[in-house]
Amino acid sequence: MIRLAVIGAGLIGREHCQLIRDHDGVELAAIADPSPEADALAREYGCPLFRDYAAMLDSAAPDGAIVALPTTLHAEAGHACLDRGIPSLIEKPVADTLSAALNLTEASEAANVPILIGHHRRHSPDMREARRIVAEGALGDIVAVNGLWMADKPDAYFDTDWRRQPGGGPILINLIHDIDCLRFIVGEIAEVRAFASSTARGFEVEDTVSIALRFENGVLGSFLLSDAAASPFTWETTSGQALYFPHRAGDCYVIAGRTGTLAIPSMRLWRRDAPDHHWQHPLVEKQTPLDGSRTYPNQLEHFLDIIRGRANPVVSARDGTHSLATALAVQIAAREDRTVAVQDLLTAAA
Ligand SMILES: NC(=O)c1ccc[n+]([C@@H]2O[C@H](COP(=O)([O-])OP(=O)(O)OC[C@H]3O[C@@H](n4cnc5c(N)ncnc54)[C@H](O)[C@@H]3O)[C@@H](O)[C@H]2O)c1
Repeated sequence: MIRLAVIGAGLIGREHCQLIRDHDGVELAAIADPSPEADALAREYGCPLFRDYAAMLDSAAPDGAIVALPTTLHAEAGHACLDRGIPSLIEKPVADTLSAALNLTEASEAANVPILIGHHRRHSPDMREARRIVAEGALGDIVAVNGLWMADKPDAYFDTDWRRQPGGGPILINLIHDIDCLRFIVGEIAEVRAFASSTARGFEVEDTVSIALRFENGVLGSFLLSDAAASPFTWETTSGQALYFPHRAGDCYVIAGRTGTLAIPSMRLWRRDAPDHHWQHPLVEKQTPLDGSRTYPNQLEHFLDIIRGRANPVVSARDGTHSLATALAVQIAAREDRTVAVQDLLTAAA
């Protein structure tokens, strides 16, 4: 039985508690959260509650810890786990700044204590299959990519201060997942441009962003992001694999190549199979069956394998840092109205 602790029992921390309860071979050893709501949660799960996570790590000595704190607190908690040799699953983004993320990455590599970043979609069968389809050349050379993440967060979501402030918006909370997936499927993103707006709610933080992407391999992409639009076009809703979202079959990414196009997560693929490649001939449509497994339990099982020493993190702190750099590039591009190169940010922070 592996003993896990949850640090920060808010929106996603509570989900992690439930995932642990529902999973074989693991138990919730302790929760650390100073909020009054955490008392009832700890009673519900019948586990010790600590106000201070450092005291919890020392006293409960878990085999692993899940860090689900507000983003600005991720790096400090990550170091606290590393200092005690405890593997951690840190929610995305790995940290709020690139220098904090790089510092944590280097500390993890030097101590040889693994950190898994919570880019849960990497544990999804559709993302893995999409990467395989692109890599095996079924679409030909990739030309262009299009993505959507558009949902309407409820008013109560913004009662929490950090979500109304820069860094607490959909670029670092939601788009970073899509960036991570597109990096995984298509390759590294070299440069970005963006326009951002906060007119829907009038908060300091952005609510809507349009983004242009240039990948290192020359592929071009565009992405529309909004957390103020009533729409089913998010991976969470279209995949049916996320937590706390209804399923409505559809797509959130289109990957287009010289000989075919793949829609994700429906995994419909259209290919130009006729030898003369004439654009007025019908495309051949194919549906890839998926195993239907859900990403969060898959992620938890992977974290347990890391703790058992059977796997290395599929999303390491270094990998998560690259997704953070790309998301920050979007933020800067919108703020400064210029093209931002991701590598320039990484070099400046190193
Ligand atoms: N992977 C996902 O699906 C997913 C979903 C939502 C949020 N997230 C990420 O998880 C993180 C948390 O987001 P959230 O929406 O759950 O936030 P939240 O504000 O709902 O929860 C944060 C919790 O941390 C607690 N906390 C604050 N300071 C603490 C401290 N020093 N020690 C212990 N606990 C402390 C708060 O009391 C609160 O309960 C964010 O970084 C976010 O990007 C990931």
